Amino acid sequence: VEQSVLEQNVTAVQPVLARRAARLAATPPAAESHEAIPFDSGHAFPGVLPDLTAAAQAALTAFRAETLQYGVRPGLPEMREFIASYMNADGAKVTADEILVVNGAKHGLDLLCRLLLDEGDSIVVTAPTYFTSIPIFRSFGVEFVEIGQDDEGMSVAELEDALRRLAAAGRKPPKFIYNVPDYHNPTAVTMTRGRREALLEVAAAHGIPVIEDSPYRKVRFEGVLEPSLKALDRRNGVYLLGTFSKLVAPGLRIGWVAAPRDVVARLVQLKSDGGTCPLTQRIILEFARAGGLERHIEKVQSVYRAHRDRMVAALNSELPEVKTTYPHGGYYVWLEFPQNVDTDALAKRAADFGATMIPGSKFFAGAGPASSKTPSAPKHFARLAYSHASPDEIEEGVKRIASALRSMRA
Ligand SMILES: Cc1ncc(COP(=O)(O)O)c(C=O)c1O
Repeated sequence: VEQSVLEQNVTAVQPVLARRAARLAATPPAAESHEAIPFDSGHAFPGVLPDLTAAAQAALTAFRAETLQYGVRPGLPEMREFIASYMNADGAKVTADEILVVNGAKHGLDLLCRLLLDEGDSIVVTAPTYFTSIPIFRSFGVEFVEIGQDDEGMSVAELEDALRRLAAAGRKPPKFIYNVPDYHNPTAVTMTRGRREALLEVAAAHGIPVIEDSPYRKVRFEGVLEPSLKALDRRNGVYLLGTFSKLVAPGLRIGWVAAPRDVVARLVQLKSDGGTCPLTQRIILEFARAGGLERHIEKVQSVYRAHRDRMVAALNSELPEVKTTYPHGGYYVWLEFPQNVDTDALAKRAADFGATMIPGSKFFAGAGPASSKTPSAPKHFARLAYSHASPDEIEEGVKRIASALRSMRA
């Protein structure tokens, strides 16, 4: 289109953007490099993707009238039942009508934002937080209340302090608290039981719902998991985002929101997709019915445990001056370089050396932390995903990052 406008020597139409879009970068996302060792994305390891042929065959034959039709808007009834029992086996108490099937957890997050946010509202996020959520939140014109974390998870004392200060300044309370309590993205920290209970207490005292984004809960390598916030909640104050992206395959785009019935009823009306794809829902149901899901979750755990081990060993030997969190689950390791290392520059240099990573600055939502203890968008952190690359690539990729760092210092 641009070419034809140029040829005719006329002025291109410049649409007047909505405020929510004007805040977004106009540059298209960088093309994915297929040569570099990928530590940047939370993609699945290709070797762990399950064979869904039999499930897809059944979905397209025995279930054709259902799977090639428009989907039921809240999700296939069997899928809602399945998700409710999957969650209840993990300590929650939800019914099928409290489940909304969505096109991945990110879609659920976007819907919850559409339900809850007006321009000028504030929301609570951790500093750092899941970076893909940041432009979604930002498009709604919110202010961020950034709360620090330690090795027990989100600092509830800091949260209380921030809420008190907002109230003292005559400000409205934040509209929700967003957190990833299990194997946090990007820090890998898991909230302790005490912190979970304290968070729910404070949130309830201020009447603020909590969005619990928990894609990695079952990607657990060792140790026991604390109950989900949803399982601990007694006040209908937790909206959980779940997904099959990390349990089966991200390309299927099936996730869910577990929330009180009235919330689900409104979210359904905000959903503009004609129903989440019934074909991929049925493929997952058939896969689970045949016992594939449980076996696959075990495989996911053992494959990524081996990836984690290789990553940790490579970091210890190649980058001993870097502090890391030790992930007991999930896809990521969070690196703290010495203060004088600028990881924005290092990420560019590492890409030249053939390994991609995400600099830590991308994970800070940007409005400055609620407490002066944590500097805003510090420059010496980075996230490496060990999910996508093979174990041998992981070792080689860490060597490349170490070489890139040496070359920056030379
Ligand atoms: C914290 C968090 N939430 C949500 C998602 C996305 O999940 P989905 O593929 O279901 O949209 C991810 C994936 O990387 C994630 O890390």
